[in-house]
Amino acid sequence: MILQKLSTPKNLVIVLSICLLFSNCKKDITSTAGSSISEVALSLPVNTYNYSHLALPAYLLSSVIQGQINIANGNTVTDNGATLGRVLFYEKNLSKTQTISCGSCHQQSNAFSDTIVLSKGFAGGLTARNTMTLMNTAYYPDGKYFWDERANTLEIQVLAPVQNVVEMGMTLDSMVSRLQHLSYYPSLFTKAFGDPTITSDRVSLALAQFLRSIVSYQSKFDIGRQSLATPAPPLDQVAFANFTAQENRGKQLFFSPQLANCAACHGTETFTATKPQNNGLDLVSADQGVGGITGLPQQIGNFKVPSLKNIALTAPYMHDGRFTSLDQVVEHYSTGIQANRNLSGPLRNPDGTPRLLNLSADDKAALVAFLNTLTDTNITGDIKYSDPFVK
Ligand code: HEC
Ligand code: HEC
Repeated sequence: MILQKLSTPKNLVIVLSICLLFSNCKKDITSTAGSSISEVALSLPVNTYNYSHLALPAYLLSSVIQGQINIANGNTVTDNGATLGRVLFYEKNLSKTQTISCGSCHQQSNAFSDTIVLSKGFAGGLTARNTMTLMNTAYYPDGKYFWDERANTLEIQVLAPVQNVVEMGMTLDSMVSRLQHLSYYPSLFTKAFGDPTITSDRVSLALAQFLRSIVSYQSKFDIGRQSLATPAPPLDQVAFANFTAQENRGKQLFFSPQLANCAACHGTETFTATKPQNNGLDLVSADQGVGGITGLPQQIGNFKVPSLKNIALTAPYMHDGRFTSLDQVVEHYSTGIQANRNLSGPLRNPDGTPRLLNLSADDKAALVAFLNTLTDTNITGDIKYSDPFVK
């Protein structure tokens, strides 16, 4: 697989010498099912990275936000559990063709999202929706996952892509059988769970731990936020010393109920909402969203409100990836909101019509400048979240 990607003889020499260094760069193993599976060398630190004791600021430790953390079955993050989860997240043997991993669509450099409208699955088929960011998945108040919130816990969610016919195309049995034939898993499972038994439940627990460890708390916004008490005073009424005038104006617009009022929906400490919403993308929703799962007419066209942390890195935007830039997103809220029958209250006028913000050019630019302060390059650059396989 590795060798196929690189065509020139020069690259071949480099790869071969890396393989000699690691002596075990890639080997083919025959699984019980008779198909050949590939093993690529792993590079893990001698002492595990710290995933379990992040130096979180006070506002991410408050009882309110702690109450918003969704942890199923007491699956708290441990360093060894998240380390196993990291390896599984980048494990291409989780896809039928051994060509893609979770990390192929959820790319660290893009805050664990993809740069294209719809992502490519193992056989080249396209996903039905835009790949979601994995920022701060631990802190989602109703604890449900996917754009339509069809997964009730993160533990349930993480096994869905493996079995999805477009994404990875596996069964849980074939996944476990493959993992049993890879030499590095017995010790990783033993460290995480006490013995080497590989089960899909354990795969799910470990993947969920890795995802919950991905917490953004070091953006420019966070530095300003740390100067305030918890719970915060109304954020539209205090200027951050580390912000430019334009960023502070954007913050005021975002948080003020009288101005852009974005915080009505993106208003928790991690910039998400307590339940799905309808932001008026279309007059009639082509994708039924939450309503397509629950069958409730009043939820048709309602979608999960993604965290806006690192939003500048996750274009394109919305469940269908229709907007390519934050300028376009802001323009939607300024002039584009449609009178969808389920349009959420904060985006309606008292008479029920869409509340178009009709922002000035300066205010639109200020909102985008504020959204850019949510970028946290500690997430995109941290080796502990990166691909551990030797390429
Ligand atoms: C082929 C691309 C692709 C692959 C591979 C993939 N995902 Fe996704 N992921 C998506 C798409 C698309 C969505 C949104 C789907 C939807 O809502 O219907 C998504 C959504 C998610 C979500 C929901 C986030 C939220 O806030 O609700 C999580 C968590 C997630 N994926 C984790 C994973 C894990 C773990 C793996 C590997 C086991 C994985 N993904 C593999 C494309 C992919
Ligand atoms: C009524 C609730 C609501 C309000 C108010 C609201 N949003 Fe949203 N926002 C949503 C929902 C729901 C989505 C996802 C919609 C979808 O994809 O179908 C979303 C998506 C977004 C996205 C794209 C996220 C992604 O990962 O693709 C951005 C950026 C955004 N909103 C910014 C803003 C800004 C800026 C404001 C204020 C001008 C605002 N929102 C006001 C509900 C709201």
